[in-house]
Amino acid sequence: MCGIVGYIGTKQAAPIILDGLSKLEYRGYDSAGMAIYDGGKINITKSVGRLKVLENLTHGGETMPGICGIGHTRWATHGVPSNTNAHPHYNAAETITVVHNGIIENYLHLRQMLTDKGYQFVSETDTEVLAHLLDYYYRGNPLETVTKVLHRVEGSYALGILFADCPDQVFAARKDSPLVVGQNEDGCFIASDVPAILKYTRKVYYVDNQEVVRLRADHMHFYSVDEEELTKEPVTIEWDANAAEKAGYEHFMLKEMYEQPKTVTDTLMPRIKEKDIVIEELNMSDEELNSVNKIHIVACGSAYHAGVTGKYVIEGLARIPVEVDLASEFRYRNPILEEGAMVVVISQSGETADTLAALRESKARGFKVLGIVNVVGSSIAREADNVMYTWAGPEIAVATTKAYSAQLVALYLLAMKFGKARGKIDSKLFASLLGDLKRLPNQIEMLLNNKLKIQKFANRYIGAKDVFFIGRGIDYAISLEGSLKLKEISYIHSEAYAAGELKHGTISLIEEGTLVAAVSTQPDLYAKTISNMVEVKARGAFVLAVTCEENKEIEKAADYVIYIPETNPYFTNSLAIIPLQLFGYYVAVGKGCDVDKPRNLAKSVTVE
Ligand code: G6P
Repeated sequence: MCGIVGYIGTKQAAPIILDGLSKLEYRGYDSAGMAIYDGGKINITKSVGRLKVLENLTHGGETMPGICGIGHTRWATHGVPSNTNAHPHYNAAETITVVHNGIIENYLHLRQMLTDKGYQFVSETDTEVLAHLLDYYYRGNPLETVTKVLHRVEGSYALGILFADCPDQVFAARKDSPLVVGQNEDGCFIASDVPAILKYTRKVYYVDNQEVVRLRADHMHFYSVDEEELTKEPVTIEWDANAAEKAGYEHFMLKEMYEQPKTVTDTLMPRIKEKDIVIEELNMSDEELNSVNKIHIVACGSAYHAGVTGKYVIEGLARIPVEVDLASEFRYRNPILEEGAMVVVISQSGETADTLAALRESKARGFKVLGIVNVVGSSIAREADNVMYTWAGPEIAVATTKAYSAQLVALYLLAMKFGKARGKIDSKLFASLLGDLKRLPNQIEMLLNNKLKIQKFANRYIGAKDVFFIGRGIDYAISLEGSLKLKEISYIHSEAYAAGELKHGTISLIEEGTLVAAVSTQPDLYAKTISNMVEVKARGAFVLAVTCEENKEIEKAADYVIYIPETNPYFTNSLAIIPLQLFGYYVAVGKGCDVDKPRNLAKSVTVE
């Protein structure tokens, strides 16, 4: 969601900024722009639509000379996607320019205050108040100006700022929106996410809340909002730049689906030691694990769906009550957290605004928070009391696949850890579960190799109007994710229902030929789900079933069956989701959709 790149150094800035912005395209955006100081003044070029348009307008940046500048990809919040609303924004004299991620919450108040003082606004954005506020406070000292502005604004921001008066400096600042800076022998860089500058440097500094950075061609200085100089340690990024490239796959999403066996292995194996599960990051003794009497899982999107599965698995294996909340609900519903409760937040990006707010709310109430996070050094990773990383590597496609799969296995490990410590899993079951866990990567690979069959089936549904996913228990959790995968990338309306709820309304939506995907991987519930399949089939539905190899009975009720290999019923989500991901993907490809960057969506939702 929105991207920032800035550069000051010895090379031409515009091509570097465009290149960096292209690495952030996955985050989702609808317009882009750059401001470059050309030796005399600041020039701005903006465009609506894909970054390609901006690249063409500037001949890959060539037509914008200058060695310092800032760039932005905007995901519209305040005001429609348009050239006027696109960043960077200027002051009236065009001497100060700013790019911004986040939301200035008191912008209406500031806008009124500035309008009363004679400032004229051209855009509908909250960001433009920053440009005029910087102008209002500017008396020749840019650092002082930036800090004064930061004291006035409320909300979240990652900023890149350029003053025409001080073209040997670029400023960056942050609060609650991610921002990193880095340096190499050619200059200094600003980025809202590491992939943008990974090609240039591996040593990055994570800018913390309410910190300001002054970047010059050959060095950077960090300051607090009170202008005190700070010392910071760089972090070395371990994953290589190729991890964020397509490597011959047609889409990042397909590549990432194929990375799932590795992702699952990388998340599981370091934590399986000598037939036991060791999660050092938990920092909890068996006694402490025993004293937990309730777990609250909080997350958004697919991470929430992983959490729904986690509830079934943890409750089943460890017999601890689990509540799962959407972070946007949790943060405002004044949740009841009682002594002995533990909060687990799940997030791929580690930057989702609502999840971060839920984490802070829990900490403020004195509860310890475990973060299950993919991005090392992200806000959630840094603020959680303990972090269990999912080792999925960089995920670029907006629709998550490999990070979701890694979240699932992290939750299985937690469930087993708690279950064993609390005496709910005996050694025989524990050994058998471990064996099943270790088999998952190969089984996922097998299912991925079945992609042609799924592709053929998916091609029949590129014209579908509605698709329903049904299941019970863990199968309902799988249905939620299967349905989301389809709708977010193919734009086909799709819903997931607990199969038992069908009769309470949804069944009236079934028409001749409506596709119903029935997930049935829980032996205890096979017969129940078959009844629901028969009910929809009787009303004209075409029934696709995803089930386990042993459940041949299902063929009597289904029109098309996809089998998953044998595993413990608690782990079936990791297998059943693979054909559903492939189904969503191939329907979207068949429809010619922009699979990796679906319309209106952002990879990392850093605003409420
Ligand atoms: C966005 C993404 C989803 C993701 C959700 C939560 O909506 O498109 O794929 O599941 O955010 O993101 P997080 O980074 O917190 O897992």
